[in-house]
Amino acid sequence: MSRERIFSGMQPSGRFHLGNYMGALENWVKLQEEYECFFSIVDLHSLTSSFEDTSKLQENIYEMALDWLSAGLDPEKNVIFVQSKVKEHAELFLLLAMSTPLSWLERVPTYKDKLLQLGELGKDINTYGFLGYPVLMAADIMLYKATCVPVGEDQAAHLELTREIVRRFNHLYKKEVFPEPRAVYSQAKVLPGIDGRKMSKSYGNTIPFGAGSAEMKERIRMMVTDPQRIKKTDKGNPDVCTVYTFHKVFNRENSDEIADKCRAGEIGCVQCKNCLAEKMNCLLADIHLRREELKKKPAFIKEVLEYGAERAGKVASSNMEEIKRAMNVL
Ligand code: TYM
Repeated sequence: MSRERIFSGMQPSGRFHLGNYMGALENWVKLQEEYECFFSIVDLHSLTSSFEDTSKLQENIYEMALDWLSAGLDPEKNVIFVQSKVKEHAELFLLLAMSTPLSWLERVPTYKDKLLQLGELGKDINTYGFLGYPVLMAADIMLYKATCVPVGEDQAAHLELTREIVRRFNHLYKKEVFPEPRAVYSQAKVLPGIDGRKMSKSYGNTIPFGAGSAEMKERIRMMVTDPQRIKKTDKGNPDVCTVYTFHKVFNRENSDEIADKCRAGEIGCVQCKNCLAEKMNCLLADIHLRREELKKKPAFIKEVLEYGAERAGKVASSNMEEIKRAMNVL
């Protein structure tokens, strides 16, 4: 029996953080056992907002591949590749762009949010490419006819748009070429950053995946807790505390006890944070060790990405033929 197919991607736009890990990668590592998976380092997507300075692009791609492999993605079980190495992504993006109404793109909530957010930082991304970001994402998923897309909840609107693009294509060309994909979320649908907002590089509130124990401790020390709690013996409210959210994700087995102690004023924030830092360092220690080992093998990383692009390319070119036939672009 053939397995269901997964596609997911990540932008190589700088230091990979724990939000990316808990929202997506950790889930990918579990899913690789059951699904046929295509995981792509989506370099073209990162150009939509970082087109001016591309000097770090290749380094970021390499670092992302290292992060993925050290977290446990198996290059034999999965197809791991760089998006721009499979030309059909750009080709399908172009074809889908013809029939995607402008109004669908303008109403995507992340579009206006990110324009505003980056505008505040003095960055102008009022470009054709940035508006088309979700069409490129739809092309990624549709090119492989994937049915499952494991992502964090911040990608929900993009996934919904992909489904609309699929329906429109099948309707226009009177052929069920594409299945409608669904989102698959991990337990941490949205991991907060140290300031309590969504962890995101653009907010500067991340904990880097590669943080060593001192950096981890320092970032956790800066985390916001219950603002009503002044003294250690004050009764706290864990439900409004970011540190507690982290305990629920990274220290699940002890989180109930921590919540009880916080409510009773029996554990102080400093102690609670130290306990979290210790737990997280343990969890990440093995991954960091593997990363150090892999770092010594740049030729292997290159090989993995080349092999992945070759395998992805085969599926992409065969599907592309069918797509163009349906559209009469012969
Ligand atoms: P990107 O690169 O911004 O993020 C990669 C993945 O990490 C998840 N994520 C989070 N999850 C939980 N909490 C957070 N704080 C957090 N921050 C990030 C994201 O949801 C994502 O799953 N558009 C995509 C990349 C993409 C893609 C695709 C994804 C391009 N083509 C096709 C799926 C399918 C993006 O920008 O992810």
